[in-house]
Amino acid sequence: MSSKINQSPRHVAIIMDGNGRWATQRGKPRLFGHHAGARRVREIVRACPDLGVKYLTIFAFSTENWKRTQTEVAGLMSLFRRYISREAKALLDEGVRVRFIGDRIKLDEKLVRLMDELELMTADNSKVHLTIAINYGGRDEVSRATKRLAREVKAGELDPESVDGETLARHLDTYFLPDPDLVIRTSGEARISNFLLWQSAYAEYEFIDTLWPDFNKKIFADIVGSYSSRNRRFGAVTT
Ligand code: IPE
Ligand code: IPE
Ligand code: MG
Repeated sequence: MSSKINQSPRHVAIIMDGNGRWATQRGKPRLFGHHAGARRVREIVRACPDLGVKYLTIFAFSTENWKRTQTEVAGLMSLFRRYISREAKALLDEGVRVRFIGDRIKLDEKLVRLMDELELMTADNSKVHLTIAINYGGRDEVSRATKRLAREVKAGELDPESVDGETLARHLDTYFLPDPDLVIRTSGEARISNFLLWQSAYAEYEFIDTLWPDFNKKIFADIVGSYSSRNRRFGAVTT
């Protein structure tokens, strides 16, 4: 297989971590950090075309984040609603196609309506594919996909013997996405916290100390640049 990559990662996924610590360092409530973090997203989405990044997937809220205080969870949900309402026009005008992954069942109706509208509104765009993960967890996603597969088998629509990795991938929330080439996590934590477990089997990882609200397009460009000098072997032996 290939040795040096020498090209941009087509799909970059980001675990946007460190908003809370960023706010605490400034003596502010955690939500202040989430607002600052949300403002960073536009700059990163805009940087994608020049960097050759076609797909950007961002982790906004995990299936485990419900364990936070009611104030923080409600504040985040309200931030998502405001973000979508406020950014919709710019995203549409800039050629960004937006889609959401995660289980919508636990999200409030108003938020789900805004998500559906934004997906529909930007459906003809193709300059950048932005995927936002809300109430997303890799294990939850695989469980939901397995449930759908089991139902199809039960209904006689799927032969269990035909099930392979492709079949499972088609039933995941990310069925429309290529696998991520590069996963970035900010804030110094070196773990994946249940993000894109199946899809990242062969992704390159970059863990950086910067807190998400301090992340910017220069840092993004540097990481994308260093990706292209890495070696991806996919299990093969290369010289
Ligand atoms: C990431 O920042 C955003 C979400 C998980 C919603 P955190 O809120 O996890 O910030 P830290 O890790 O506590 O600093
Ligand atoms: C991961 O960050 C989830 C998001 C960035 C949305 P967390 O802050 O929730 O992860 P842990 O708790 O440090 O593993
Ligand atoms: Mg965190």
